[in-house]
Amino acid sequence: MIQDLIMEVPSLTPDTLWDIEFYKDQGLYFYLEEIEKLLPNGRVHVKGRGEMIMLGGYSYLGLIGHPKINQAAQEAIERYGTGTYGVRLLAGTLDLHSELERKIAEFKGTADAVTFSSGYVTNLATISALLRKGDVVICDKLNHASIVDGCLLSLAKFVRFRHNDMEHLEYRLASADPSARKLVVVDAVFSMDGDVIDLPEVSRLCRQYGAYLMVDEAHSIGVLGKTGHGIEEHFGLPNDTVDIKMGTLSKTIPSAGGYVAGSDELCQFLKHEARGFIFSAALPPASAAAALAALEVIEEEPERSQRLQRNYFHFSDQLRAAGFDLLQTETAIIPIMCFELEKAALLAHYCQQRGIFVQAIVAPVVPEGQARLRSTVCATHTLEDLDYCVETLIAGAKEIGGIL
Ligand SMILES: Cc1ncc(COP(=O)(O)O)c(C=O)c1O
Repeated sequence: MIQDLIMEVPSLTPDTLWDIEFYKDQGLYFYLEEIEKLLPNGRVHVKGRGEMIMLGGYSYLGLIGHPKINQAAQEAIERYGTGTYGVRLLAGTLDLHSELERKIAEFKGTADAVTFSSGYVTNLATISALLRKGDVVICDKLNHASIVDGCLLSLAKFVRFRHNDMEHLEYRLASADPSARKLVVVDAVFSMDGDVIDLPEVSRLCRQYGAYLMVDEAHSIGVLGKTGHGIEEHFGLPNDTVDIKMGTLSKTIPSAGGYVAGSDELCQFLKHEARGFIFSAALPPASAAAALAALEVIEEEPERSQRLQRNYFHFSDQLRAAGFDLLQTETAIIPIMCFELEKAALLAHYCQQRGIFVQAIVAPVVPEGQARLRSTVCATHTLEDLDYCVETLIAGAKEIGGIL
């Protein structure tokens, strides 16, 4: 019989930790919402919901839709078209890519820079290209997933230290084989907690123990430092503090892609050895042009960084005064701790129903029992909108109970 020949096969999709159907059934699923239009002042138009205050985005300086950046992208399409002739090493390099890399190097105070097709790919490609068997890579426990994946892909020994705990980092460095090549990798600003790495101490320890230092500036470009140049500016440290300066072109910089800025030797190496560079197509012209223009805008309009600071304090001071636990944040990422998954989902629901676009972050992205709303402020939010968000969060937390 033909039926006897059909084999039983296991499900295509393995078990996951996300009980998506549960959230959908409870009306608590707010992911993959479709934004239809950008509006001024950090607002968006969401399909089926109308105008909302965007309190969960990464456009920290409010540069999405900036006229100069839009125009640069349009002109790039006119001049080069929408794609490239392939990978950078072969036919895909445009003069625009080289110009962007020179600008990134100048912005970060390095000799050179290299761009990749995303921030995720940048970490994956860079870490896995630099490390070999016998090397040791030491990471903060809360580093972004793309760093973790890069470490796992390399054949190096992968060890972690407790979050921002310098004694534990020193213990890890001291315990590593003294003859091994060592790389310490940290986020500048931690993407779920909003706190800042203790860079002065990390870099001192790296020098003491002969380790190289890589810092991911995905959430610090435009955010940290008086003029938004990032973590060295924030701490008043010299430009050569960090060996491998990684960042994304997808957050403050409203484009797509990632970069590494560093020495000529490092960038040459990555352009010829990093598989994520060699085997992935070049950044599309519009993305490269938008990123280049955005870096110029950050320098031309320093008042945006100052407005972001003002908005951060305006929002977080009121939330702290109301009794919310915001962890140790000191940046535009403001975690609003709810601890229990249901409470975070209910508070997100309360806000979403009232025109505030904010998401609940739950396990496995954060540890079990650490569920939160991950709110983010931007330079273009108005004080009135931020006040409305504070009032709504307080009212929602009171109604749900056990958050304040
Ligand atoms: C700290 C950090 N590094 C890297 C990335 C990956 O960047 P991209 O989204 O540009 O791929 C992210 C993304 O959210 C991030 O938060």
